[in-house]
Amino acid sequence: MTKLEQLYEGKAKKVFKTDDENLYIVDYKDDATAFNGEKKGTIAGKGVINNIMSNHMFQLLEKQGVPTHFVEQLSERETVVKKVSIVPLEVIIRNISAGSFAKRYGVNEGIVFDQPTIEFSYKNDDLGDPLINDYHAMALKLATAEEIETIKKMAFKVNEVMKAYFDTLNVTLVDFKLEFGKTDDGTIILADEISPDTCRLWDKDTGEKLDKDRFRRDLGNVEEAYQEILRRLTGK
Ligand code: TMP
Repeated sequence: MTKLEQLYEGKAKKVFKTDDENLYIVDYKDDATAFNGEKKGTIAGKGVINNIMSNHMFQLLEKQGVPTHFVEQLSERETVVKKVSIVPLEVIIRNISAGSFAKRYGVNEGIVFDQPTIEFSYKNDDLGDPLINDYHAMALKLATAEEIETIKKMAFKVNEVMKAYFDTLNVTLVDFKLEFGKTDDGTIILADEISPDTCRLWDKDTGEKLDKDRFRRDLGNVEEAYQEILRRLTGK
């Protein structure tokens, strides 16, 4: 596998072409942003942890029947993934009120929902990733009705698998964001990453936040929180 030219650099990852036209390499960075890039910083060692955690979660999900872009970890920060075109929707599942949900609807954080919720944001930095519904996404041709149905089913399945798994680690899965990709033959698979950048994870006993909210809200012990999640996942 040869790493060829960089295709894209995002806020947290770089993506490279390879000598196999069906495979890309992602390279996780320590850069952290919040509020659509307004707040910038570095979380030392984050790239390594997010790479390991994402791969761990993708392998667990594959075993439970969820197709993902994961192929093989190459190094601490690099992973081979299937080439996809990303569906420009951020898919957010919530089990408990927090973040933008609590703010938008004027409710406290920590309300446990009777059933999980799903929402979409249009992945567009210039517009600040606005909330979007199914019909708007179809009108903008971001995805077909069938693709949206597939994405919803997969996202709720991911939630069931992840919620049960984090429970065994004494962690509450509050909410998370997923991105899906389309392979050349049109198959929808789970892509991007699953990490403390993209999930809210609370210690089950103390409620301590073990995710990127520590950075977003200047709570301190940011690196320690990422390390603690890695320790619970891998024992290291
Ligand atoms: P929110 O409450 O700010 O809408 O965030 C919901 C979840 O999505 C939370 O787990 C953090 C994650 N998220 C991202 O992964 N990327 C983003 O750009 C935002 C705003 C949230």
